[in-house]
Amino acid sequence: MKITMIGTGYVGLVTGTCFAEVGNDVLCLDVDPRKIEILNGGGVPIHEPGLEDMIRRNVEAGRLAFTTDVDRAVAHGALQFIAVGTPPDEDGSADMQYVLQAARNIGRRMTEWKIIVDKSTVPVGTADRVRAAIAEELAARGARIPFAVASNPEFLKEGAAIEDFMRPDRVVIGADDERAIHALRALYAPFQRSHERLLVMDVRSAELTKYAANAMLATRISFMNELANLADRLGADIEMVRQGIGSDPRIGWHFLYPGVGYGGSCFPKDVKALQFTGGQAGVPLRVLAAVEEANEAQKSVLVDKITARLGGDLSGRTFAVWGLAFKPNTDDMREAPSRVILADLARRGAKVVAYDPVSMAEARRVFGDPPWLSYAATPMEAVAGADALVIVTEWKEFRSPDFPGMRARLKAPLIFDGRNMYDPAFVKDAGFEYFAIGRR
Ligand SMILES: NC(=O)c1ccc[n+]([C@@H]2O[C@H](COP(=O)([O-])OP(=O)(O)OC[C@H]3O[C@@H](n4cnc5c(N)ncnc54)[C@H](O)[C@@H]3O)[C@@H](O)[C@H]2O)c1
Repeated sequence: MKITMIGTGYVGLVTGTCFAEVGNDVLCLDVDPRKIEILNGGGVPIHEPGLEDMIRRNVEAGRLAFTTDVDRAVAHGALQFIAVGTPPDEDGSADMQYVLQAARNIGRRMTEWKIIVDKSTVPVGTADRVRAAIAEELAARGARIPFAVASNPEFLKEGAAIEDFMRPDRVVIGADDERAIHALRALYAPFQRSHERLLVMDVRSAELTKYAANAMLATRISFMNELANLADRLGADIEMVRQGIGSDPRIGWHFLYPGVGYGGSCFPKDVKALQFTGGQAGVPLRVLAAVEEANEAQKSVLVDKITARLGGDLSGRTFAVWGLAFKPNTDDMREAPSRVILADLARRGAKVVAYDPVSMAEARRVFGDPPWLSYAATPMEAVAGADALVIVTEWKEFRSPDFPGMRARLKAPLIFDGRNMYDPAFVKDAGFEYFAIGRR
């Protein structure tokens, strides 16, 4: 099939590449010339495991190309996927300007039947707005060309995006046009060879499903974070509690890990946008208001532990920080808890020596080059001469560090672990004072 991917970011680039991988002819469009230049030069503008090889393979095979040329992009695909950003607007609602711009670009240029597929996370009713925008542009040029609009929200996780896309738990299609359903069914057939995972539903339900999924996951995180804080106070161990409840199949093991709060480009904005939708519909989503409030508070928990141990004035102190990305295996720092934690440490006069396996370049872009922040080439270099180690992202390479080596390099044997990476007894035996989230 001929596919145009509009928006070549974390979702569009992965999705477009995976569609090419199974034999489709994919053209990825972006308005950001820098991204397209990097891709056309053989580079990859984001970090996503396995992506670089897959892009190279498909570009070489002539199935994947990148452009900033809107005319070419609209002419290319019978299927036009919209995968542009939907960032939060000032009132918390999803900012739809990029989605609607993409729709208008199609309406202004299309000359034959097309299926427009909303892949971005968009509020209920967006497919109607996309349809209206395209119809308006067609009418403005007196063109009468039929088209279909479908919703196909994306559930991939950054850091495991290719695996998620190639082997999805489910593929949600919201559509009422039989031809569109048929085309999307055929497009996704190679991704569900062992059994059918396609859920076809009405457009509004598909749009709501994406928000419901992210809101549920964010709720589990905030719930566990609050319980971990309570466990801290009561002298209970949240890890034991996690095992005690995760073993109940109604609860399950996933997404029960306490930490320093959720971040990233999706949960924060989607929780806000769903609340906004609820408010507009006259159905206040009270649980989600609490989820968000708990998450904001959680981002200070680690610094609270630091100041409880070392005092509120941290001037003259240096902290080694391991992990800057909002989660492992990505360079994405959008809404990352590290941003709040580092800013808090700096405000209290501390210096930070940070290490992250892939997002230090992104961190330089985010923080600039302030005098309180420097970067280390290795985790060990970061701890050398620091007053304490602060762990913010649970990268695999931090799982089994050289504890004696760290002890020898740190000024004091202090670890503040925002991701509960270690067994407290083991770390204590290694001679450290260990502060984690809800651990005894
Ligand atoms: N990142 C994730 O893990 C993830 C997962 C599922 C769903 N989503 C949703 O997918 C959507 C995209 O997210 P993302 O993380 O890929 O965003 P992103 O910011 O990485 O990429 C969006 C891209 O769209 C481009 N763009 C904007 N307007 C355009 C236009 N008119 N024409 C062409 N390109 C345009 C931007 O330049 C940018 O490169 C969002 O709605 C997001 O909520 C994201």
